[in-house]
Amino acid sequence: MKLALVTGGVKGIGKSISITLAKEGFFVFANYSSSEDHAKRLVEVIGEDKCKLVKFDVGNREQVNASIKQIEESFGSVDVLVNNAGITKDDLLIRLSEADIERVLRVNLLGAIFCSQAVIRGMLKKRGGRIINISSIIGEIGNPGQTIYAASKAGLIGFTKSLAKELGSRNITVNAITPGYIETDMTSNLNEEIKQSMLKSIPVSRFGSGDDVAAVVKFLVSEEAGYVNGAVIPVNGGMF
Ligand SMILES: NC(=O)c1ccc[n+]([C@@H]2O[C@H](COP(=O)([O-])OP(=O)(O)OC[C@H]3O[C@@H](n4cnc5c(N)ncnc54)[C@H](O)[C@@H]3O)[C@@H](O)[C@H]2O)c1
Repeated sequence: MKLALVTGGVKGIGKSISITLAKEGFFVFANYSSSEDHAKRLVEVIGEDKCKLVKFDVGNREQVNASIKQIEESFGSVDVLVNNAGITKDDLLIRLSEADIERVLRVNLLGAIFCSQAVIRGMLKKRGGRIINISSIIGEIGNPGQTIYAASKAGLIGFTKSLAKELGSRNITVNAITPGYIETDMTSNLNEEIKQSMLKSIPVSRFGSGDDVAAVVKFLVSEEAGYVNGAVIPVNGGMF
């Protein structure tokens, strides 16, 4: 059975990705750092025979390395890594503290870098693998109040394109997905007025779902997607 690790994989977009990969026949390691309730519910939905929870903070390199080492020693190396864990700390740049700035970059960008570093050796030995980074439309078009989030997500795009060039010859592909507005906890606190004005800018006239993003992950992990490498795939209903 092939192994997939989905960071932040127990709720929101990550939950849809975990469920989709399990349906595709992967054994899924669903990472989380809090959200215990969501984590337990996910295992109930997928089943203990196809899913295991792994608790670590993606922004903590020691925790990342120790957890991935444990997975590899007990189950084998990871075939698919989906770097999905992410946070926002939205405010005007002038108001953001060093701690806020550092945390968003650490989780969104360093987290993906640490997890990728930790799985690559195993993928090289296995002579194959897939790394998928969940970036954001905000990393492509920018947004006031989201400077650091945008920097972290744009950074992920550069990371994706460069790592794709490092690993392509080893049968390991690295791609990014840039979701637009997806209905999850991350977007639920926007007020109704902003939501309605955003809706007007989405050509397909609806917000996206976690399943819309998971469908592209499903394609990227397939055999057929082996020639897709270093790509940045928008899932935004035509917003950009
Ligand atoms: N919702 C959207 O509209 C949207 C749009 C574009 C991109 N994204 C990106 O998609 C990804 C998932 O977002 P979502 O909307 O499902 O958000 P969410 O808040 O519902 O889920 C984020 C997940 O990441 C986990 N997480 C946060 N910090 C972590 C850490 N340090 N270590 C491990 N896990 C951690 C959370 O526990 C949670 O499970 C994020 O990277 C986000 O930036 C979301």
